[in-house]
Amino acid sequence: MRHLVFVAPKFLENTNRYLAGFARLEGLRVSVISEDPSAAIPGALKPHLTGGHYQVKNPLDGMQLGEACRSLAKHLGPIDRVTGALEQLQLPLAQAREFTGIPGMRLAHARRFRDKDEMKRVLREAGVPVAKSELATSIDEVAALARRLGFPLIAKPPAGLGSRGTFRLESMDDVESLPRLGLVPSPQSPVQVEQFVRGKEFTCETVSIAGKTAWRSGTRYFPSPLEALENPWMQYCVLLPREENGDPWARFHPVNEAALQALFAGSSAEASTALTHMEWFLADDGQLVVGEVGARPPGVNIMPLNSLAHETNLIDDWCELIAFDRFTPKPRKWATGAAFLRGQGRGERVVAVEGLEAAVEAAGEALVEMRMPKVGMARGSGYEGEGHAIVKAATTEGVKQALLGIIQRVQVRYG
Ligand SMILES: Nc1ncnc2c1ncn2[C@@H]1O[C@H](COP(=O)(O)OP(=O)(O)OP(=O)(O)O)[C@@H](O)[C@H]1O
Ligand SMILES: [Mg+2]
Repeated sequence: MRHLVFVAPKFLENTNRYLAGFARLEGLRVSVISEDPSAAIPGALKPHLTGGHYQVKNPLDGMQLGEACRSLAKHLGPIDRVTGALEQLQLPLAQAREFTGIPGMRLAHARRFRDKDEMKRVLREAGVPVAKSELATSIDEVAALARRLGFPLIAKPPAGLGSRGTFRLESMDDVESLPRLGLVPSPQSPVQVEQFVRGKEFTCETVSIAGKTAWRSGTRYFPSPLEALENPWMQYCVLLPREENGDPWARFHPVNEAALQALFAGSSAEASTALTHMEWFLADDGQLVVGEVGARPPGVNIMPLNSLAHETNLIDDWCELIAFDRFTPKPRKWATGAAFLRGQGRGERVVAVEGLEAAVEAAGEALVEMRMPKVGMARGSGYEGEGHAIVKAATTEGVKQALLGIIQRVQVRYG
């Protein structure tokens, strides 16, 4: 019987899906570490969590996770895996593994997936195309880099999330205004400065088992997350095409392979068993450029889009991969897509939602899920807006039309 520890940290809807995925696996004892008390574990899952529960004050503290694992191991037996789905957990999880000797990704490799500067260094050394970038510890250094690299540039925190704190710089005025946007470079918290890649943005999701690629899938962002944030009126969409090896996704596969080989190099078999989420660009000059990589399940509905397209539950599949190093690729049956419904206007709350019925009618059979923004909801801060629609169709074009039909009709207004 394998023993797996899942770090929640709170029993929220999405986290519970992962917990349920582990709970249903035969031959697995599941323990849970969370910030929430055990009373918050969903009742339906409790009987299947045959390990223990350990409450910590701060699940982002690797030492606390390590102590929790020690205690769980002492009472329930050795731990084979400790995992969590959130990006922010990946470094603390690695620290806990080092502290306790649990197999899996260690800090040095976790940093390659979490620290954008380290990631680019490893990729660059392996000859994988990435944007030119350097760290700046002061506004003067950003300005010096701007003179060297030329505009436009991107400035971001090296361990960013949700594109928050990522800005496009077009001029020295923009450089000077960085502190006002909340990005203050210092030796303690340097800012990553990158050459701006002009082009289209895609993702590549890869399942690796002991460093070998077992499955790949990809999506396209319409528009890029940065453009969506820069233009609050834009409805951000993610498209998963019907074709498994269509263009340009398949063209990227060798680059994805080289990038993952470089990032996993020198790590154990357990540490190179993962679902990775890589963001990449098809640059206007035809180059395929890696943006960034995370060693955890992707957000922006890419998990449900893949589940629908492959008639599976990719969350359950991920749980099996992490617990038992097993993954059964399924053929793609559908094209799928997600539209994020974002408000327009200046206010801080949703005051009106219009066009819903027309949108549902336009999407017709393609509509799988519609989570509508509700009047009274607070304005969201990211590109995911306050609601979303998920669609599925027999062709890529069918999904594009369904997405367009929805975002043209639904109007969410702030006031
Ligand atoms: N060098 C670049 N050239 C062009 N666009 C870029 C570049 N770097 C970042 N971006 C844009 O900014 C977005 C956010 O950057 P990045 O993915 O590095 O940050 P993040 O905070 O991890 O974002 P997320 O969590 O949304 O993936 C990218 O998806 C892309 O649209
Ligand atoms: Mg990103």
